[in-house]
Amino acid sequence: MTSPQLDTLFRPFQLKTLNLKNRIVMAPMTRSFSPEGVPGANVADYYRRRASGEVGLIISEGTVIDRPSSRNDPAIPFFHGEQALAGWKNVIDAVHEAGGKMAPQIWHVGAVSNPFTEWRPDAPAESPSGLVAPKKERGKAMTDEDIADTLAAFGRAAAESKRLGFDTVEIHGAHGYLLDQFFWDGTNQRSDHFGGSTVRERSRFAIEVVKSVRAAVGPDHPIILRLSQWKQQDFAARLAHTPDEMADWLVPLVEAGADILHCSQRRFWEAEFPQIDGENGLNFAGWAKKLTGAPTISVGSVGLSVDFIGTFGGESSPPASLDNLLERMARDEFDLIAIGRAILSDPEWVAKIRSGDTSSLKDFSPAVLAELH
Ligand SMILES: Cc1cc2nc3c(=O)[nH]c(=O)nc-3n(C[C@H](O)[C@H](O)[C@H](O)COP(=O)(O)O)c2cc1C
Repeated sequence: MTSPQLDTLFRPFQLKTLNLKNRIVMAPMTRSFSPEGVPGANVADYYRRRASGEVGLIISEGTVIDRPSSRNDPAIPFFHGEQALAGWKNVIDAVHEAGGKMAPQIWHVGAVSNPFTEWRPDAPAESPSGLVAPKKERGKAMTDEDIADTLAAFGRAAAESKRLGFDTVEIHGAHGYLLDQFFWDGTNQRSDHFGGSTVRERSRFAIEVVKSVRAAVGPDHPIILRLSQWKQQDFAARLAHTPDEMADWLVPLVEAGADILHCSQRRFWEAEFPQIDGENGLNFAGWAKKLTGAPTISVGSVGLSVDFIGTFGGESSPPASLDNLLERMARDEFDLIAIGRAILSDPEWVAKIRSGDTSSLKDFSPAVLAELH
């Protein structure tokens, strides 16, 4: 793995007020170690170790906005309320002390329940049309008032993150959660301004979220928006079947104020439109960059041989070569690369890659999820 192209990973990146020492991002990963929604010293130490381990940008686990049913597990952290925000202040201070940069990933789960817990919030789940998946009812459809309050809550969370000193903020718009439930025709059957037969129409809710966040953080603070075609409800679902449709989806989001698109795939090397540029063609982040001109983050099984859905099925994953990634980074197909499980299991992963110490890279084992180390 001591490729001459390794340097492409260690180029700095700059956008607005964000300055990163390298192109490596820790992917957002829910850990559920914040009892009562408050991240404690163990959470601060967990992120501090990744900052010390030379991660360029840390994106936090999903942390929820102030809506009664925004989370689906009692140990998911809040991003609202005095105690939780004091906990996050300790996190960002610890990361900065260790020379890192960080964004919170602000989140609302929509109608998705968590199969690993019996816990349910006091209020019913909320979503565009009271559907968690096509034809599968759960909770209630959001009223105009619910929508207005949700938009305001995203704005407040973003304003707090800037006030606490976070370097940028990520909006979770992927994986079948609330924003994605609006994007997806399978779960958005509204006949008002937030529904419609095209992805451009169904993007209006996310556009309003981006605008609310932009109004809260001002023009110079970068906003990252995480998106995916796939949904946990349906891995094969797609919002955009062609580049034109993808442009219809993404360009208005960038125009609304999303600075960086974080394009989630389960396997980063998979071509987004193989019918156009072949099996080795541009991936999702590559197409998103080409169509919008915005910088993009790619993600999905970097350095590992089994994808992360396999992780939830209990599968271990041995290390894999970075050559394909380095070739794409050298071509600037996308700007940044997010790494999930490899950095979750090994805080020193980036430092090991940089120094060529690949013999000490570890297998990823789902057992590591049991602890916050
Ligand atoms: C334990 C775990 C928790 C995750 N939680 C989140 C989350 O809160 N928000 C999110 O956008 N993605 C989440 N993901 C997806 C990751 O951010 C990432 O996209 C995925 O793991 C693929 O990257 P990897 O193959 O490098 O692990 C999670 C993944 C794992 C393994």
